[in-house]
Amino acid sequence: MKLTFPLLDASEVRDARALLHAAPWADGRTSAGVQAAQVKNNRQLPSDCEAARILQALVLQALHRSPRFLSAALPRKVFPPHFNSYTGTANSFGIHVDNAVRYTPAGVQVRTDLSCTVFLSEPDDYQGGELVVHDEQGGQRVKLPAGHALLYPGASVHEVLPVTRGERLAAFFWVESLVRGNDERSLLLALDTALVSLRGRDGESAEAVALTGVYHNLLRLWATT
Ligand code: NI
Repeated sequence: MKLTFPLLDASEVRDARALLHAAPWADGRTSAGVQAAQVKNNRQLPSDCEAARILQALVLQALHRSPRFLSAALPRKVFPPHFNSYTGTANSFGIHVDNAVRYTPAGVQVRTDLSCTVFLSEPDDYQGGELVVHDEQGGQRVKLPAGHALLYPGASVHEVLPVTRGERLAAFFWVESLVRGNDERSLLLALDTALVSLRGRDGESAEAVALTGVYHNLLRLWATT
């Protein structure tokens, strides 16, 4: 399941870009796994700098007020977001897979059920830089408006194409979900989406209550807390 959703508003994007433009960037390879490090060529914000801490809080707060994210990801743990820049000669991240388990700077293990990229530059501000997630349908090139996010399975083979003009700023992070399986999570999202629509049309009907019970009983069956 791949899902796009709006996350940050225009003023949050402006604030994020201002912080990133003044930030102390480092080589992105320091946080990659062995295979990924060979193809990773970008710059990344050190996760312990002040700008990173402010921006991590900004993104995490936005995630917790996003019904679409919460419904789709059913987050159990969210990795503190990384921030990266693709420009000049540090401008791409070749085809790779992310490690299945990541350790936060505080040493917390996060199983990477889902990956998420939040675009922070406007599409017109750079050329190239599409995120390509390879799945059964082939590779789909994704470039979203600033403030919008793409959520995709953490097991996907993916890459960021070279930026040939301008700068691509983005946040990315992983999510360990309460529901490990993509199929189960997709069914819960479909049911929740239909329920929201049913309630919008008919209010709190007996059917809506019964189906809400089904939703929670499935979640109870599949969730690991
Ligand atoms: Ni990756």
